[in-house]
Amino acid sequence: MTEILQANSDGIGQAAELLRAGSLVAFGTETVYGLGGDATDAAAVASIFAAKGRPRFNPLISHYPAAAAAFEDVVPSGIARRLAEAFWPGPLTLVLPRKAGSHVSQIAAAGLDTLAVRVPAQRDALRLLAAVNRPVAAPSANRSGQVSPTTAAHVLAGLRGRIAAVLDSGPCAVGVESTVLDLSGARPVLLRPGGATAEAIEAIAGPVEIGAPPAATDVLRSPGQLASHYAPSLPVRMDARGAAPDEALLAFGQPCQGADLVYQLSETADLVEAAARLFDGLRWLDAKGTRHGARGIAVMPVPERGLGRAINDRLRRAAAPRD
Ligand code: TXA
Ligand code: MG
Repeated sequence: MTEILQANSDGIGQAAELLRAGSLVAFGTETVYGLGGDATDAAAVASIFAAKGRPRFNPLISHYPAAAAAFEDVVPSGIARRLAEAFWPGPLTLVLPRKAGSHVSQIAAAGLDTLAVRVPAQRDALRLLAAVNRPVAAPSANRSGQVSPTTAAHVLAGLRGRIAAVLDSGPCAVGVESTVLDLSGARPVLLRPGGATAEAIEAIAGPVEIGAPPAATDVLRSPGQLASHYAPSLPVRMDARGAAPDEALLAFGQPCQGADLVYQLSETADLVEAAARLFDGLRWLDAKGTRHGARGIAVMPVPERGLGRAINDRLRRAAAPRD
């Protein structure tokens, strides 16, 4: 049984109690819903991996109600402090050297000597994190390899019966995951484009290196960069200038010709609106398209700037060959 908790004082209090007792609770953030567990409790963290079917080598982000709490578990550089000041609470995750005294479980960090930390910008999530008063490990609340959830209903579609509760705080405002920035080396490296744009980060941190997509045989630098990810069951075709009658269409701006089944990301080609609707669109077209016998999802081009980078990154993974 998975309980659905409303995001009021009672619901948040119950969610915090469950987390402190070692149970798993999904909760909304401004990016996507996270599958939360007490990051200091090895058994709770292990059950996150089990509930998602996630490979153990892929480390988790620890979530905090404020920068001061996050910086108790990692060693912040000057750039880290400036970025935290500018972006937290918000959709930026910082990878930093882990402090020797950190109580975050080794399993959460997949044995690495770094730790990914973030302070989300969602009122209910912040209240929950403050009530738990421990770091909360939270990957996106989907089964591994599937599309990330931006509503409580999306979470339940994948994890009902596998987690204690979901705290329903409504749809996520940003809609794509946080930007992951590695500050543990000599220069900042962008490991995953996300809700905080590279342009905005560079305005504060200076030039940022783009993490090269890891070769299949490498030890992955950010293991979540596995090529095939965010995959709906229908195949995805990017940069579609037209759609076949048996294709479902994910439109951006004026829909191109051909498709009957259309989900509009943003009529006005607004990247912020498109990011917020992306995962719901993929899920909706996948479900409807499958029922209507569509053979795939065609996606119109999205510009590679601002949030468009995160959108295209997720779409490329959805379109990547699967093994
Ligand atoms: O927006 C988000 O970041 C959401 C919400 C719930 O906060 N969480 C999320 O978690 O997307 P997840 O587990 O789906 O993605 C975390 C990413 C993965 O690509 C993982 O490999 C990377 O962060 N990561 C975590 N710890 C890392 C570390 N120590 N070094 C490098 N990459 C790390
Ligand atoms: Mg994920």
